[in-house]
Amino acid sequence: MPKVTLHVDGDVIEQEVKSHANLVVLAGIKQFPKLKYGCGIGKCTKCTCKVLNGEENLDPPNWKEEKMLGDHLKKGYRLTCQLTIKDDLKISQENIVIQKKKKLAQGSNRT
Ligand code: FES
Repeated sequence: MPKVTLHVDGDVIEQEVKSHANLVVLAGIKQFPKLKYGCGIGKCTKCTCKVLNGEENLDPPNWKEEKMLGDHLKKGYRLTCQLTIKDDLKISQENIVIQKKKKLAQGSNRT
């Protein structure tokens, strides 16, 4: 079974999880009670983590992560709620500040 190590609020939580598990779902059933998350559907960025180890075992970022994290993806940030755990993974939710992309102002098409 994959082993997940989560650094959050000064704690290091290590748990084995079922293959293809989702950490937000596991947080909901109290396997990762300190995991920070919100919507669970890739819209709020509250679950943002920095991948410390095991990025090669994750699927590439999906369109929600690309939309919400933009250039932060290149620095190793991911949306935890969008990750499917297939192998060992080490992530951190310590001191993460992600600025959401600003919505473009809707301009008028009238001339
Ligand atoms: S929980 Fe809201 S984006 Fe992941």
